[in-house]
Amino acid sequence: MKLLFIFSITCLCMLSSSNGSTGRGDGLPVRAVNLGGWLVTEGWIKPSLFDAIPNKDLLDGSGVQLKSVTVGKYLCAETGGGTIIVANRSSASGWETFSLWRINATTFNLRVFNRQFVGLDSHGNGVDIVAVANAPSQIQTFHIDRNPNDLKRVRIRASNGFYLQVKNEELVSADYDGNGGWGDDNPSVFILSTSGGLQGEYQITNGYGPLLAPPLMKEHWSTYIVEDDFKFIKENGLDAVRIPVGWWIASDPNPPKPYVGGSLQALDHAFSWAEKYGMKVIIDLHAAPGSQNGWEHSASRDGSQEWGRTDENIQQTVDVIDFLTARYAKSPSLFAVELINEPLSPGVSLDRLTKYYRAGLEAVRRHSQTAYVILSDRLGPHEPLELVDFAKGFTKVAIDVHHYNLFSPIFDNLTVQQNIDYVNTNRTQQLTHITVPNGPLIFVGEWTAAWQVRDASKEDYERYAAAQLRVFGQQRFGWAYWTLKNVQDHWSMEWVIKNGIIKL
Ligand SMILES: *[C@@H]1O[C@H](CO)[C@@H](O)[C@H](O)[C@H]1NC(C)=O
Ligand SMILES: *[C@@H]1O[C@H](CO)[C@@H](O)[C@H](O)[C@H]1NC(C)=O
Ligand SMILES: *[C@@H]1O[C@H](CO)[C@@H](O)[C@H](O)[C@H]1NC(C)=O
Ligand SMILES: *[C@@H]1O[C@H](CO)[C@@H](O)[C@H](O)[C@H]1NC(C)=O
Repeated sequence: MKLLFIFSITCLCMLSSSNGSTGRGDGLPVRAVNLGGWLVTEGWIKPSLFDAIPNKDLLDGSGVQLKSVTVGKYLCAETGGGTIIVANRSSASGWETFSLWRINATTFNLRVFNRQFVGLDSHGNGVDIVAVANAPSQIQTFHIDRNPNDLKRVRIRASNGFYLQVKNEELVSADYDGNGGWGDDNPSVFILSTSGGLQGEYQITNGYGPLLAPPLMKEHWSTYIVEDDFKFIKENGLDAVRIPVGWWIASDPNPPKPYVGGSLQALDHAFSWAEKYGMKVIIDLHAAPGSQNGWEHSASRDGSQEWGRTDENIQQTVDVIDFLTARYAKSPSLFAVELINEPLSPGVSLDRLTKYYRAGLEAVRRHSQTAYVILSDRLGPHEPLELVDFAKGFTKVAIDVHHYNLFSPIFDNLTVQQNIDYVNTNRTQQLTHITVPNGPLIFVGEWTAAWQVRDASKEDYERYAAAQLRVFGQQRFGWAYWTLKNVQDHWSMEWVIKNGIIKL
């Protein structure tokens, strides 16, 4: 009896030492939670982070519309850009919306629909306003003065020191030198409105600027996720964390402006806590240089998606993967490296993406034979099996698919039961379709208990979450909930666990 006991202990130890920190076979499937909104900012997860930014409605990527008080019409980049700015539109949409690049709280570049920047006409009389420059310089830089008693009333000063004025509906120039007050008779006064806007890492760091951003971000990183969170995660039956990181982490402690150093140290802490509690870490490159999808969670500056357009940019991303894998390869908690999150089709072509995936796989394997490499499925129009064939040629590879009953009109009016049926039937079908013999493992790297159903009961949420846990739990690589903490209750795994909606 005693001998048998010792023998089985030895077996367990061998198992656990040959398979990382968990001692459960190959450690699959994972039951993970994302640490969203920590090392890559997403304003909707913790809006209060943005509260103290001066002129916080004028961040990078905010859309602004400007209505002349004298002609009562909106400024417009005629034909969307590439020519003059006019003031003859009675309603505002794409061509009448200018996307901001923030220099500081009061100084901006304005990008038009076709992506040129508004500026003085250097090829003409030097004062007319055009949108022809592909990159901003001094003459594309404007100072926005707000009426302190009515922040929606603004005047815009050009680099020549003069204010923009609307001379008539077809002529806007920077040659107003009166002061004229804030009245409706002043051709240099505009009514400002805003739309859209992103609240990502670029916006928060550039919004606070070089003096205020570093202490604020460091405070966030050191208080938002702490050792106790890992203890909580472990005690509640989870065994892994998926940690979104941004490309700038690889140049810590001095990342390119406006990013702030220190996120690497926070990731170091996460690894030491994961080791202490015997948990796995999936590093997830959530924000790639230039942004792979134009959303705030990939740190897009203004909604543009530039990632992957050049070989240089792909190589830069491979270098980030190389850096991160090298740094953590020796940690027993390094379980997987996800090469990029949610690349968006058609902006990111399959050809560019697989070129990157091939190089990224090699970069991981230079440092680790044991870490899984995770390839994120493209969002947007794509063939469900497009990565499966590619991935067959590699070992220890998983494909990450994200499944939300959200973000598509098909979920708008579903009942509780229809949502659950969709998970049981349609999600199962979708996942079965991409699961092929000798193919990559499937990972549901993001899902949530949040949905579109209004006034759902606790029991409704429990049944919906249980259906997802069952279907996603059958996937060979497992799943990760989005996300650990969130001001919106059902997006917070901490909240749904504490409130008994999810029991593992
Ligand atoms: C606005 O002015 C431009 C330039 O003269 C003209 O081509 C365009 O048709 C005008 N648009 C409207 C709606 O008046
Ligand atoms: C904002 O930037 C402009 C242009 O670089 C500069 O002239 C101005 O002094 C800056 N304002 C502040 C408050 O830093
Ligand atoms: C959902 O219901 C609303 C209100 O009845 C309706 O206006 C809308 O078109 C429906 N959406 C879809 C996608 O069926
Ligand atoms: C879900 O699957 C069922 C059964 O295959 C199918 O009839 C239905 O159209 C699917 N629903 C959606 C929204 O695709």
